[in-house]
Amino acid sequence: MSMTIAVLIGTTRVQRESVKAAKYIAEFGRRIENVDIILVDPMDFTFHGDGNDPEGKDPRYTEITEKADAFFIVTPEYNHSFPGSLKRMLDSELANYNHKPVAFAGVSNGNWGGVRAVESLVPAVRETGLVVMSWDIYFPYIQNIFADDGSIHADYKERYEKQLAKLFDELVWFAGILKTPR
Ligand SMILES: Cc1cc2nc3c(=O)[nH]c(=O)nc-3n(C[C@H](O)[C@H](O)[C@H](O)COP(=O)(O)O)c2cc1C
Repeated sequence: MSMTIAVLIGTTRVQRESVKAAKYIAEFGRRIENVDIILVDPMDFTFHGDGNDPEGKDPRYTEITEKADAFFIVTPEYNHSFPGSLKRMLDSELANYNHKPVAFAGVSNGNWGGVRAVESLVPAVRETGLVVMSWDIYFPYIQNIFADDGSIHADYKERYEKQLAKLFDELVWFAGILKTPR
């Protein structure tokens, strides 16, 4: 069974570092058999006002969420939470998230790796009907993990490849279980 996984970049900050983690995760996912990855950049979408009324949606984002069998959210931590642009994307749809699994990656330039952003995402995504995986991946001190061109430094490669393989396995497994009855 083939699966479509939407990898969500969690911020529109111009100098965002977390985009390197999101692109790395997307590239990793593209190497998995029968998995299609859509890398979703909130900068590419326009949401008029808040909420999920028809005029507040971006039809291109609606289409992606309809198509996705699973989500992988990559969030930086802003003031011990997740960015507003990520919340805006989550808010704009409801039914299209229901009964689909979601994995998280947290990012920070300090010690905590975005763990508070991920923990604060859990109650919000639970309300959308997304099914949360029981562990996450963290990128503390992101500036040490990736080079300017986005490639991962050799010291970190094995560790993150191992963690990503395990988390994608779980995400794809849940996506398969939930797809048929949905
Ligand atoms: C508005 C703002 C608030 C932030 N708050 C936190 C925070 O509460 N905890 C933390 O570990 N890092 C915080 N950071 C630093 C981020 O961890 C850092 O910018 C990192 O590179 C990931 O975010 P980025 O994708 O925007 O670069 C904050 C950054 C911004 C721009």
